[in-house]
Amino acid sequence: MKYKKYFRKTSLKQKGDGEFFLTEIKKKSPKFFLEVGVFHGVTARNICELLFQIHKNDFKYIGLDLFEKNDENKSEIIPNTSFSNPLKQFYFKYIKRQDPYTIEAVKDLLKKFKDNVHLIKGNSTIVLKKIDMKKIDYVFLDGGHDYETVKSDLNNCVDVILNNGTILCDDYNLSYAPGVKRAINEYVKENNFKCEILHSSRFAKIEK
Ligand SMILES: C[S@@+](CC[C@H](N)C(=O)[O-])C[C@H]1O[C@@H](n2cnc3c(N)ncnc32)[C@H](O)[C@@H]1O
Repeated sequence: MKYKKYFRKTSLKQKGDGEFFLTEIKKKSPKFFLEVGVFHGVTARNICELLFQIHKNDFKYIGLDLFEKNDENKSEIIPNTSFSNPLKQFYFKYIKRQDPYTIEAVKDLLKKFKDNVHLIKGNSTIVLKKIDMKKIDYVFLDGGHDYETVKSDLNNCVDVILNNGTILCDDYNLSYAPGVKRAINEYVKENNFKCEILHSSRFAKIEK
């Protein structure tokens, strides 16, 4: 399946990243998906399209994000949310009249799947503790990139792995966010989980 960008920004921007990601998801065909770090909702929409193809309406997607600009949360690496492409700037300012990095705009992008989708604005280190992880069979972890945040998020998702689910982490080998790799390596060792490093060390797939 082709990964579409919907005229928005996404971290899966290089050629082949999105397709690799969707192929990975398809192998497991999860029914209850959690994405930590939704950003503009591009990956969310692609996941929903894929899960709809596989399961029709019998799937759920939960997406969580701070939905806050960088200056409000300095410790986290939040991608630049403004567009350099003037056409995109015009489209969101004058046609859509929305900021694509808001929960409202992401809801709008996902409205086709409104009965399957639940979006949450908040910090993963707090929100994940309140989610019943036993229901979730696949997590895409792409939120905060600090060591402490990644470690906390992984610990909060441990029941997903224990119930034979999968956590796919993005940016395993990012030079400017070394805490991601450190947190994943520690977590896998402490819990004796399996970890596969995929797609030129971009993703880490954690399973039991
Ligand atoms: C790399 S982007 C996510 C990209 C998205 N998964 C995609 O594929 O396009 C990271 C997102 O995580 C969010 N984020 C950072 N720290 C977070 C935290 N502690 N809790 C929730 N979201 C967080 C940021 O606001 C940002 O939107």
